[in-house]
Amino acid sequence: MNAIVKAPGQQDGSKAATLIVDNKQITMPVRSGTIGPDVVDIGKVYANSGVFTYDPGFTSTANCSSKITYIDGDEGVLLYRGYPIEQLAEKSSHIEVCHLLLNGELPNQKQFDEFRSVITRHTMVHEQMTRFFSGFRRDAHPMAIMCGSVGALSAFYHDSTDIHDPVQRMIASHRMIAKMPTLAAMAFKYSIGQPFIYPSNALDYTSNFLQMCFAVPCEPYNVDPVLSRALDRIFILHADHEQNASTSTVRLAGSSGANPFACIAAGIACLWGPAHGGANEAALKMLMEIGDKKNIPAFVARAKDKNSGQRLMGFGHRVYKNYDPRAKVMQQTCREVLAKLGVNDPLLETAMELEQIALHDDYFIEKKLYPNVDFYSGIVLRALGFPTSMFTVLFAVARTVGWIAQWKEMIEDPEQKIGRPRQLYVGAPKRDYTDVAKRA
Ligand code: ACO
Repeated sequence: MNAIVKAPGQQDGSKAATLIVDNKQITMPVRSGTIGPDVVDIGKVYANSGVFTYDPGFTSTANCSSKITYIDGDEGVLLYRGYPIEQLAEKSSHIEVCHLLLNGELPNQKQFDEFRSVITRHTMVHEQMTRFFSGFRRDAHPMAIMCGSVGALSAFYHDSTDIHDPVQRMIASHRMIAKMPTLAAMAFKYSIGQPFIYPSNALDYTSNFLQMCFAVPCEPYNVDPVLSRALDRIFILHADHEQNASTSTVRLAGSSGANPFACIAAGIACLWGPAHGGANEAALKMLMEIGDKKNIPAFVARAKDKNSGQRLMGFGHRVYKNYDPRAKVMQQTCREVLAKLGVNDPLLETAMELEQIALHDDYFIEKKLYPNVDFYSGIVLRALGFPTSMFTVLFAVARTVGWIAQWKEMIEDPEQKIGRPRQLYVGAPKRDYTDVAKRA
């Protein structure tokens, strides 16, 4: 079999690609987005040629078209609905970014007030959820509690699980964005044996979350606006990242018609993995292991040696082959938080020195390995008072709006089909069953 792919122009000006399989020519449409690479539409390849395409990890395959987020990994660009992440991190708020991602546009004042009010008024969870929590072991990982409790929301909110009803879809979306901080704070409180703190409608989204995490009933708690703003910015930076593993999981789960709470629970399970949501914890551990700055050169040498099994955590990215734009904002946020708290964390010094050494090292330059968002975020979250077991939970709180916006977009997409990848079968060919007595 020979297979050749060409991409000549069509007579009508539209683009097309040609695949030749066993001397049979198949023409495939080439589709263009607003920005970014074109895609070859291979949807009819099997029907027309009898072959599948093979792409483990989807390194070259688009699974959908989307209007939500755009990444240019070579240039280090991240846009939400067209707006650069740096501008949103500086000027916007997470709640406004939630409106943008979910509804497509920045809200005017009236829309903003309404949206904020709707989210604020959905932050409480059904009182029976507290009894659901007490079924977990006290030492359960908060991500285990999140997987279970978010999935359980579908048992409490039947009136917003009809995915074919646009009103119910929107109510479910609001509920997810509003209740996720409450559940995350409850998971934290449960793990440290403190009473749950109810949400407060007087506070903004992120201040309310900090209060639910760090207040105790026996004394007043005042949210520090600098720290609240810093966490809000971290939420903005993590709000969406197009078709990453957990978002693709949410879309795949949703493609079967599963309810949105179940789909988000699936996304949380995927995010839990160390290659996805757990990298900031690994980066923090690495900085602690390095300890003194004088140990950096030896550590960098190990990270460059494939046989050492050691990587420079918080460096490199599947998509970004340039500085992750979120890492720049995160470094600034890190400085602000430490300054506000009056903390002189030697890990920040170690991180900055390590970054400089790696950025000037031929190995990292040639392989286009730059700091990613996780390089500095662990230092900030630790300074804010969160244990490492909560880091991925905070990521889940932030990413909820991205998951739900992508889920909603998928349900409303007329091209949507159940996700069902094909495979290259490499197992035994057909063979006959033999009786156990006759087997070797
Ligand atoms: N330190 C040292 N070498 C590295 C690193 C690193 N952090 N990252 C990649 N490399 C090297 C690899 O050894 C490989 O070398 P080779 O070409 O000689 O074989 C080359 O760079 C390419 O690496 P891949 O693993 O093939 O690249 P991929 O795109 O699959 O991986 C990943 C990206 C997983 C993020 C990787 O860079 C890594 O493991 N980084 C550290 C973990 C990390 O920070 N993850 C967070 C990602 S951001 C997020 O999830 C929010």
